[in-house]
Amino acid sequence: MKQTEIIDVKTTGNNLTSYEEAYRNFDWKQAEEAFSWHRTGKVNAAYEAIDRHAENGLGDKTALLYSDPKREESYTFQEMKEQSNRFGNVLKKIGLTKGDRMFIFMPRSPELYFSFLGALKLGVIVGPLFEAFMEGAVRDRLEDSEAVALVTTPQLLERVPVKELPALKHVILVGATGEQEEGFYSFEEEMKHASPELEIEWVDREDGMLLHYTSGSTGKPKGVLHVHNAMIQHYQTGKWVLDLQEDDIYWCTADPGWVTGTSYGIFAPWLNGVTNVIRGGRFSPDDWYQTLEKNGVTVWYSAPTAFRMLMGAGSEVVKQFDLSKLRHILSVGEPLNPEVVRWGLKTYGLRIHDSWWMTETGGILISNYPQMEIKPGSMGKPFPGIQAAIIDDQGNELPPYRMGNLAIRTPWPSMMRKIWNNPAKYEEYFRIPGWYVSGDSAYMDEDGYFWFQGRIDDVINTSGERVGPFEVESKLVEHPAVAEAGVIGKPDPVRGEIIKAFISLRDGFTPSDELKEEIRKFVKEGLAAHAAPREIEFKDKLPKTRSGKIMRRVLKAWELDLPTGDLSTMEE
Ligand code: WTA
Repeated sequence: MKQTEIIDVKTTGNNLTSYEEAYRNFDWKQAEEAFSWHRTGKVNAAYEAIDRHAENGLGDKTALLYSDPKREESYTFQEMKEQSNRFGNVLKKIGLTKGDRMFIFMPRSPELYFSFLGALKLGVIVGPLFEAFMEGAVRDRLEDSEAVALVTTPQLLERVPVKELPALKHVILVGATGEQEEGFYSFEEEMKHASPELEIEWVDREDGMLLHYTSGSTGKPKGVLHVHNAMIQHYQTGKWVLDLQEDDIYWCTADPGWVTGTSYGIFAPWLNGVTNVIRGGRFSPDDWYQTLEKNGVTVWYSAPTAFRMLMGAGSEVVKQFDLSKLRHILSVGEPLNPEVVRWGLKTYGLRIHDSWWMTETGGILISNYPQMEIKPGSMGKPFPGIQAAIIDDQGNELPPYRMGNLAIRTPWPSMMRKIWNNPAKYEEYFRIPGWYVSGDSAYMDEDGYFWFQGRIDDVINTSGERVGPFEVESKLVEHPAVAEAGVIGKPDPVRGEIIKAFISLRDGFTPSDELKEEIRKFVKEGLAAHAAPREIEFKDKLPKTRSGKIMRRVLKAWELDLPTGDLSTMEE
């Protein structure tokens, strides 16, 4: 067996003294103690994240440090409490009640966070959307969830087919001017007249909180429902994995359109009463380093593509900034290359701690802890309270070094509770009794470290964004020139994978670079920029099964020059 590289423990002053001991003794009940629900049995995650601190002596502490190229603002826990209360009252006046779905479709801004928290305080289920979504993506999600309200901006409203969404009754516009038509409201006007006192809707732990749409290999994006109970996991992983301590300045670079931007961009820091840095605007090495320096960030949670881009920008840029406050760096979303971990150590003098989880798991399940040795390339070990294993398709646990399904013993506090409107899809994850089957393949080594190997299905991970090939294919065949399309992920040194589309054209269309560009633009404008294929290859015919399904596996084998495997189901 090859000698594994080990990077020794560097961080000090942790909340978790010994991983092994915690793993042996931990019970989720311990984490529940932090919250106030034992008084009434009822709860509200937004209250626990914000109001609890405001009421317990941290009212004047900075909760949110916001900046983007145009704005720089900060809010204390007390101010966050009042602003989210105001928004709760706006929704109350409009008539929203517990269980209603409200979507937020806008760039990061303080208003996004006020709306998010305010809606939760009423027991409303929030669906956050990436601002990059185009009309098709927005329609799918609002339609499936039958959202009754939407918070957006006048610019983004152009991508919302309001008239085609009968359930959508209320649109709250941030930054709108002038009189509003019926059903449309000015965020600023409404907030001005709303009271900063709110009667919070106390909910049950199992009541819906968040709806995150994510992609699978077949079908439209699925709505993963999380409940208020998930906060237990957000809180405890924040403490032990992010190592959040009272004086930390924490920055999670993810957008709330992605689950990382809610579980770890909202809940984990605020449930732990920590100052949370939010940066709007696009990625650039200068801006990012400046954000770290200016705010004195101590704990930084980001993703491999970003680290690879920073690595590509070189170490000269880093030297212009004072990053001496940084003490803990983490990564999630895609495989973290050992090379990046080594570079991080050299450049920042710190280890980058990989962590593994999924939209469906709601929180971190496997990770490298501050007080553990790191094996670069490994995702680390299960969180205390979590039992992870590699199992075969029958549910037998496999010994170390055997590759198989990465699976988790059910349940855990932040586990999804539903796929919206699709119980059959939900059941698929639990098809092996007692286990949640992740769809990732991995192996475990003799020390209990897990090593990611790949996806078992065809889901593409490009720059950490999960893209379903079916969604892209469906959009492609809407283009008049496209007869059939098959989409795969092609390995890429910076983005992990890029999207590559194989296309057969309808009669009368001839392959050309202009046509490729036009098709790419069609997907970009219809779905989202990150879903548009970076590479397109025209083929006379695509490999299909006799039942007519495009065989992505064969496309991938062509692309990577691999054996095509069993072709018995392929049509003549
Ligand atoms: C992949 C939510 C390798 C994996 C956070 C998973 C990872 C999918 C890692 C979830 C990691 C996540 N190493 N791969 N540390 N973390 N993934 O729901 O395939 O958008 O199933 O992420 O990302 O994607 P999602």
